[in-house]
Amino acid sequence: MTLDVPREVGTERSVAQVYDYGAHVWSWSLDGHDVLWTSVKSLFETGKALRGGVPICWPWFGPGRSGDLTPAHGFARISEWALAGRVDRGNAEVLTYVLDPEAAPGALPGEDWRVTYEVSVGDELELALTAENRGATSFSYEVALHTYLAVGDVRQVAIAGLDGASYLDKVTGQPEVQVGDVTIVAETDRVYDRGADVVVTDPVLGRRLRVASEGAANTVVWNPWVAKSAAMPDFGDDEWPGMLCIEAGNMLDHAVSLEPGGSETLRYRLAVEAS
Ligand code: BG6
Repeated sequence: MTLDVPREVGTERSVAQVYDYGAHVWSWSLDGHDVLWTSVKSLFETGKALRGGVPICWPWFGPGRSGDLTPAHGFARISEWALAGRVDRGNAEVLTYVLDPEAAPGALPGEDWRVTYEVSVGDELELALTAENRGATSFSYEVALHTYLAVGDVRQVAIAGLDGASYLDKVTGQPEVQVGDVTIVAETDRVYDRGADVVVTDPVLGRRLRVASEGAANTVVWNPWVAKSAAMPDFGDDEWPGMLCIEAGNMLDHAVSLEPGGSETLRYRLAVEAS
């Protein structure tokens, strides 16, 4: 089934489109300039993930820690979320979404849980995802806000803030340590053991994108480059230079454990500065 049209929210200078499906922030523009990347090849069908914007990965990341879970990145991004609130705060408009086991009966991570997602669209884009354990037994989950940033040419950007951080290189399967800024010179798929507090300097678009996170132990940096883009049906073959994923989350050894009654919040803040 084709998706309904997205909601348009924000302020005069800051506009986002958000789908209830996946509680997916599909686009965000500030002063008319797109900050998030979206693929022209994205599918807009229930059961499929959107390609671009901010997919929510929950309650597992990729194929999960066991390596065999489907759908990839969990069911949250392909579930219908309930809109629980829409508030105009003047300098920002805020949507609140809720997902609970009714949307995904019998699924991981545990018997009773609730995920609440706040999307605040103002001079910055602020996202807050809270998972609560409402059952009687503890459970754990992985989570990521899988943000696709729009860049002028990914080969020319510098990503600061990860110097000295250890990471898993998912392309080679090897553990590594970052030295200096991250630059993209080939397929890049890395899980850093450091929360995102990252600045992406983009000389082509003449701007810096500042990503700040809270409640995240990991940052994922992803660009599929040539071969992997060509292999993805919902990703244009020549689109990879225009995007860069800087994801904040908790995964692998940093999965979140929640005791009964417990909750944890992951925050992602995106700001744009002229350079
Ligand atoms: C990244 C993963 O977060 O998402 C990559 O690290 C993966 O390994 C990418 O290829 C895209 O995943 P998907 O399921 O949206 O194609």
